Amino acid sequence: MAHNTNASIEVVDHPLVQHKLTMIRDRDTGAADFRQLLREISHLLAYEVCRDLDTETVEIETPLEPATGPKLEGRKMCIVSILRAGNGLLDGMLDLIPAARVGHIGLYRDPETKVPVEYYLKLPENMDERVCIVVDPMLATGGSAIAAVHRMKQSGASRIKFVCVVAAPEGVEAFTKAHPDVPVITAAIDRELDDHFYIRPGLGDAGDRMFGTK
Ligand code: PRP
Ligand code: URA
Repeated sequence: MAHNTNASIEVVDHPLVQHKLTMIRDRDTGAADFRQLLREISHLLAYEVCRDLDTETVEIETPLEPATGPKLEGRKMCIVSILRAGNGLLDGMLDLIPAARVGHIGLYRDPETKVPVEYYLKLPENMDERVCIVVDPMLATGGSAIAAVHRMKQSGASRIKFVCVVAAPEGVEAFTKAHPDVPVITAAIDRELDDHFYIRPGLGDAGDRMFGTK
């Protein structure tokens, strides 16, 4: 795969992430376990994605004496979920960054063309001042993630990261070409897209598996 030279792609190969990914791929994993695993993977990916966030030094009192320590300004962050499956990662991110503001972008892939169709958009104010994390478990053709980030940039966002669980090489290529300034953090880059634009080996349709549809 020919990566765009300026783009940043991180595959989180930690054994805990990879173990949970194997379980989530398994067709015998039901919806409840699928959601729980996605939430746990989200915690571990959040740890990576937040690694370089700014902190401010605040004064506190321990039970024994005054002290100072670093603090994240969660309210300056924005997590944007690409509906529906992004909500599975959103919940986990909010466990760790409860003060973050939340945006939703509703996109579905047209069953025939696989082109993303937008049906909902709600983003917080002052996107230009926020560190934004866009979440969607699947990066297949890249169409949905590219459209979502495009929308966010239209709203003024400039500090954006994209977090997914399974990416196709084709999606990584397309996304980093469209948005070379947006780092991608993923648990895996799989072999390929199939003729129906599903990721192989992948995990199937993430939204359907989360919510038991289809
Ligand atoms: C899935 C997935 C991504 C998108 C990835 O959503 O959650 O949003 O497909 O494919 P792409 O990279 O080719 O755009 P889907 O359109 O199935 O909607 P859903 O989450 O509502 O099921
Ligand atoms: N969306 C999914 O949920 N899975 C795929 O494999 C491709 C797109």
